[in-house]
Amino acid sequence: MAARIIDGKTIAEQINAETRAESQRLKARGITPGLAVVLVGEDPASKVYVANKEKMAADLGFHSALKRLPADTGEGDLLALIDDLNFDRKIHGILVQSPLPKHLREDEIWDDIDPTKDVDGFHPLNLGRLAAGQRAPVACTPAGIIEMLVRSGAMPSGKHAVIVGRSIRVGRPLQLLLSQKGRAGDATVTVCHSRTPDIGAHTRQADILIAAIGQPRFIKADMVKPGAVVIDVGINAVPDATRKSGTRLVGDVDFDAVKEVASAISPVPGGVGPMTIAMLMHNTIAACRARESA
Ligand code: GUN
Repeated sequence: MAARIIDGKTIAEQINAETRAESQRLKARGITPGLAVVLVGEDPASKVYVANKEKMAADLGFHSALKRLPADTGEGDLLALIDDLNFDRKIHGILVQSPLPKHLREDEIWDDIDPTKDVDGFHPLNLGRLAAGQRAPVACTPAGIIEMLVRSGAMPSGKHAVIVGRSIRVGRPLQLLLSQKGRAGDATVTVCHSRTPDIGAHTRQADILIAAIGQPRFIKADMVKPGAVVIDVGINAVPDATRKSGTRLVGDVDFDAVKEVASAISPVPGGVGPMTIAMLMHNTIAACRARESA
């Protein structure tokens, strides 16, 4: 029997409705959540992502400020902009769109963002807080994956979760979230990566399998335990001559084959992607409430 589809779009709409209600509640008290999105350069995919974030922020009643800088912006100028935003009282959340042009050091940039405005959860202080089991803004993609699991009834508690990919922005925070104590955690976690021999031997043990490795259709049907829940974080453009653009997006999971083995699976697009934006808005509201004591 084919797997149930974990519909990220519908779950994201639920979360956005909750955020909209919260935004209206704050508005009634004279408080407008403010999000600044910084885009450096002309990366086409980044332009699309940033436009989607702007649109959603406006839709939820946020004040949103898009700051566009040319691709040759120096690190000093970008840091100066971030300092301005750190002190701007109308701004509760700051997001600098990644990837940045190669000459800019992303770690230096993220270190400069006020940790209380770090709605991406990329600041090392916030990652450290998460590791220490303290409250902190959590990176939007891992936070969105946890919400997808919980809200679709695939509770991680007591399950064996296998993450393929150890990135600082997805695999690492997800490992911490899934293993932390509490309702949405309490899983046993295995992390596989590019140096793991025989990844399939691990993924076949997974009750919950999360693919975040950045390789198109890496997870094949014979790497999945029958009945597993599969979350696909990948967004890979592959050639497709039938499309006007010449490419189409596929995940890190061989969806058509794996859906015949899994009990539930998230699609690409329409899975993790919309959740990431929903969690960004959720983090912005949370930062606003903390700042305004509201
Ligand atoms: N680029 C792709 N996804 C993200 C994200 O979640 N945050 C930032 N800052 N850049 C991204």
